[in-house]
Parts: sequence; C-alpha cells; structure tokens
Amino acid sequence: MEAIKTRYRTHTNGQLRKSDVGNEVQLAGWVHSYRDHGGLVFIDLRDRDGLTQLVFDSDECGKACHDDARKLRSEWVISVRGKVSARGEGMVNPKLPTGEIEVRVKSMEVLSSSPTPPFTPHETETVNEEKRLQYRFIDLRRAEMQQTLRTRYRVTKIMRDYLGDLGFWEIETPFLTKSTPEGARDFLVPARLMPGSFYALPQSPQLFKQLLMVAGCDKYMQIVRCFRDEDPRADRQAEFTQLDVEMSFIDRENIISVMEGLLRKIWKDVLNVEIPNPIPHMQYDEAMNKYGSDRPDLRFGMELHDITDLGKKTDFKVFSQAPMVKAIVVPGGSKLTRAQTDALAEWAKGFGAKGLAVTKVTASGFDTGVAKFIQPIAQELIARTGAKEGDLLAFAADKPKIVHKVLGELRLKMAKDMNLQPSTEFAWVWVVDFPLFEYDDEEKRYVSTHHPFTAPLDSDLEKLSSHDREVVESIKSKAYDIVVNGSEVGGGSIRIHRMDVQQKVFALLGIDEAGQKLKFGFLLDALQYGAPPHGGIALGLDRLIMILRNINNIRDVIAFPKTQSGADLMCGSPSPIDEKQLREANIKALVPPAKGAVPDVHDVVHKHAGGAGKP
Ligand code: AMO
Ligand code: AMP
Repeated sequence: MEAIKTRYRTHTNGQLRKSDVGNEVQLAGWVHSYRDHGGLVFIDLRDRDGLTQLVFDSDECGKACHDDARKLRSEWVISVRGKVSARGEGMVNPKLPTGEIEVRVKSMEVLSSSPTPPFTPHETETVNEEKRLQYRFIDLRRAEMQQTLRTRYRVTKIMRDYLGDLGFWEIETPFLTKSTPEGARDFLVPARLMPGSFYALPQSPQLFKQLLMVAGCDKYMQIVRCFRDEDPRADRQAEFTQLDVEMSFIDRENIISVMEGLLRKIWKDVLNVEIPNPIPHMQYDEAMNKYGSDRPDLRFGMELHDITDLGKKTDFKVFSQAPMVKAIVVPGGSKLTRAQTDALAEWAKGFGAKGLAVTKVTASGFDTGVAKFIQPIAQELIARTGAKEGDLLAFAADKPKIVHKVLGELRLKMAKDMNLQPSTEFAWVWVVDFPLFEYDDEEKRYVSTHHPFTAPLDSDLEKLSSHDREVVESIKSKAYDIVVNGSEVGGGSIRIHRMDVQQKVFALLGIDEAGQKLKFGFLLDALQYGAPPHGGIALGLDRLIMILRNINNIRDVIAFPKTQSGADLMCGSPSPIDEKQLREANIKALVPPAKGAVPDVHDVVHKHAGGAGKP
C-alpha cells in the first residue's frame, strides 16, 4: 500500500526496503513492542501495513527525544521523522518485509498515549473471545483480523467489478420494509408515524429484486445486509451480508455460469486456486441418499449405504421393523473403545435417533455391538458397504428423515474425530432439483423448501393442482444451492413469473386468497402487469470469507459481530431504552429488561480507564 503523504507520514510501516536507505522519511503508527537497551531504544512501529523497526539513539535524536522514547508503552500512537538505514550484519529479520532496514529517528511526536491495554495485538497472545469482542477496536489491530478485512474488501470489489462488467447494476432496496418469508423470525421496528404498526427488517431483498426485474432492470446485484432473528451459530449471524443477484430472461444454467465465473475469479485472485470447470451438479435426492445432507461435504467418502432389505433378513427387530436402515463405514473405526461407541449412541439421540448400532470389522468377521444379529447378512453387508478389517460399521434404523440426519452428522463428526485427510482442499458442488415443498409434521402443512417464489420444474406444473400428499411432495423445483466443503455458501432459483402459478403455490402453502392479497398483493399485481422470466441467487459473503480464510467462526470474519446471545459486547446492545423513547414509539415492554445480560457500556469504559503509561 502506498501512503497518502500527510503531515504525519510519508510511508506506511510495511513499505520501506533496502532501496530506500539514506532517505528521510516520516512514519506514524502504534507502538507494537519496545526494547530499552539504555543507550538505544528500539521500537517496532505498527500500522495495518506492517512493522518497521525504529531506533532512538540520543546522539542522533537528542536527549529529550531519547528520554521521551523510554517512556513509550504498548499501543501509544506516535509519528517520527528519521533516516532509513540498513540493518547491521546479523540484525536482518528475514520474517519481516521491512526486515533489512530500520529508521534512525531524528524527532518524534506522541499523538496518543494509552493505559496498559487489556491485551495487545500480538498474534501469539491468546485472549478469550468475550474480551476480544468487548475491545474489538484493539482486536481488529491484529494482523490476522486486518488480513480478513482486507480479503473481505477485495472480494466485494471483485464482485462489483465482475458483475458490473457484465452489465449488472447495484440497486439499493429498503431496510424498513415488510416481512419477507425466508423462514426465520423478523426483526421489527415500530412505526412512530403509524402507531401500532411495524416495519420488518428484510430477511433478504427477495421480493424487491423480483420487482426490479418486472420493472425492466434486467440485471441487478447488491451487497446487502440481511436480518434474521434466529439463534446465532458458528456459521450464522442475525445480521449478515449477501451478494444478492437477479437476472431476467434466463434459465438455471445461465445464472449458474455467471456465478461460477465470479467464484472462479475470486478463488484465482485471492488464493491462486483453480475451481473445477464446470462445478459438478448433484441431485438433491442423491445428496440426501448418499450423504444424508443437502449440503454434502465431498472432501470425504463415508457414503451412506441403504441396507433396509438386508435388515429384514435379520432377527434384530430394530432393523427388521424399521422403515429404513442405512450404514456407514468409519475407516479405522474399530479402534474406538466401548465407551466411545456408547457415547456416539448417546450423541445420536440428540438428533432424534433411538440409538446407534455399531460393530467392528475383524479378520474373522464382525465383533462386538450388533455382531451376532448381522451374522446372517455378513457377506452381503461387506459387499455392499466395502467395509474392511479395522473399520467400524455404524447403523441407523428409523424414518428416512432421522436416518439421514443422524448418519449425515455422524459422517462429519467421524471425519473430524478420526482426523481423516480430505481428498481435496475445496470440494464444490451445485445441489439441484430440490423438492418444492416439505411437509411440516408439527404445523400439519406444507412449507417451501426454499421460499414461496421458487418455480416448480415445468414438467411438474400440473401436480400443483393435486391434493395427494405424495404427489405434492414429489414436485421438484428450479432451486439450486452452491456448496463448498459442506457449507452452503449460496442459494437461489428460477422464480415463478406467472400470477396463476404463484397463486397455486400460495394456496398449497395454506395462504388463502384474502391472505395472499394482504401479504403479497403487490407481488401478484406485478406478476399480472408483464413479468419477464427471471431468476437469481444470493451468496453468503461471510461464509465465503470463512472458507477463503479457513476460519471456523463467523464472528472472526465480521468487523463488529454479535455473540451467541445476540449481544454486541463493545457498545452494549441490545439495551433498555428510556420511557420517553418507548412512549414516542408507542410501545410498552411487557417484561422488564434482564439485568446484566449485556454489560452496561459505562461500566466498560470506566472499569479499564487505569493510569496511563504503566506496563
Ligand atoms: P438463503 O436464505 O438461502 O436465500 O440465503 C442465501 C445465503 O445466505 C447465507 N446465509 C447466512 N449467512 C450467515 N448467517 C445467516 N443467518 C445466514 N442465512 C443465510 C447462506 C445462504 O446460502 N433470497 C434468497 C436467495 C435467492 O433465492 O436468490 C435467500 O436469501 O450462505
Ligand atoms: P437395544 O435393543 O435397544 O438395546 O439396542 C441395541 C443396539 O442397537 C444399541 O447399540 C442401540 O444403540 C442400537 N439401536 C437401538 N435403536 C436403534 C435404531 N433405531 N437405529 C440404530 N441403532 C439402534
């Protein structure tokens, strides 16, 4: 990075090289480390660009300046003027880009002092996450965090440039809007000017981007914040960012090819890694049957094998009476102890299973667990699963939904626990042909697998008039997800652009005509007045950056994230608001705010305002 020359600096701290030796320069930044050797004071000065070694020698900078240098402490902010000089023999630091030079200081200005910080931005220091989030402005000074922010910026720039060159316009859509059904809860905002009414923050710009297509905008993109009131997880935040895209007059393959081109460019520019061309497609049914998941991690084998028919040949009621029995082979899993396999069975119950049957494969047959029950099907079982001596066979017997969930999760857990080497660094796949609906057993109604605006396959259009559950559940949609290493980094679909089809889908979702008019009247109107065929996708920006930077925690790729309980520990939100504000918003809190749920921002400020300058 070139520095913009200001009164504080001529260069950044990552910039100077041997070729600059002899030049007068000015640097500014944070005191990263200091070593006081009496006669000489060494400071590593840091900014987002790197580190430069400063040397204060009283013969060169004068006694007053040298004395001031001895008072410098971690994270003070200074600006210095000095001369670039080559480091002496044996003093070169090959790990630093600036390691061949140092700056011999002539004068210094202290711009800010700092009390002893709660932690320093040294990469070697381990700090608990709560503290990092509370002092995010210090945490973000760490080189790793700066690298992530830099990558994030580079990726969004590539997105804008790439799509811009293809004729996409970035168009903003409202944040104060109406509920958009993406399957999560809405964040609500009271409307002061219409007492009793609320805006919803968008779960995605879905309907607006479709309306932009009806409006003739042809190609739209937006890097946009989405809001979903769901529990944050390792790969989920209530407030996250999408690259949102929509195009007119296209089929599935057109949008897939645009997005592949973009992903290929990002991976090439950022990592210098090629993405396979084309990325393979996998049917939803195959993903579920073989991997127990609609976002299969294809870096590992361990496929699910259907042995329902073999189960019926045994005397083991768990198998013979189950609607489905499947097995996976855990390579080398026979070294697991009884306690460990018992723990797996308990773990499986967390996913709704009744247990987890296991057996070990030995040279002479099966051993332990359900060995005696599966003896009659031994040969067929080995032939079908390919299990070898030293492996563990694990079985789930239940309804397909539970079998797939349990074994899908077990596959991932075993890959991790057994430290299986991935077959490739990045395993990409498009999952296609999702079912249009799923039946929600609790609510006793159909719900959309993606969202209600997703088009069914043309060949399944007629099935929309059926009342037969099996027929309705067999309808496939024009939806697609892009998955890498088991992470769903994007999803989209070709949309319904005919009003009558949209109405049929709403009806199947249990939204009657009055409800349709109330909730989606504007969409139905738009579809009525000349809607082009259109479709699109949204990539989860945060998840993409996690994969690019090999980071497991979504909070580490967001500058100011929320904790698992949805709190911003730095500014102390959410927080109670005063009576006057409540009254103005025409709302009344039914429960008093929980005390101490989020530290009061004033506490935080005062607790650490210790004396300046003491290490
Ligand atoms: P979907 O709901 O699949 O589709 O979201 C698209 C992508 O956004 C990411 N994502 C999230 N990332 C972090 N935290 C979250 N809470 C979160 N939720 C979703 C995922 C996901 O693949 N409007 C449609 C897109 C379309 O049809 O064009 C939509 O929002 O990576
Ligand atoms: P049980 O007959 O309940 O003692 O179970 C015998 C073994 O089968 C135990 O290891 C259980 O964990 C396992 N098991 C029980 N129910 C199931 C199931 N539905 N699927 C797979 N394994 C099961």
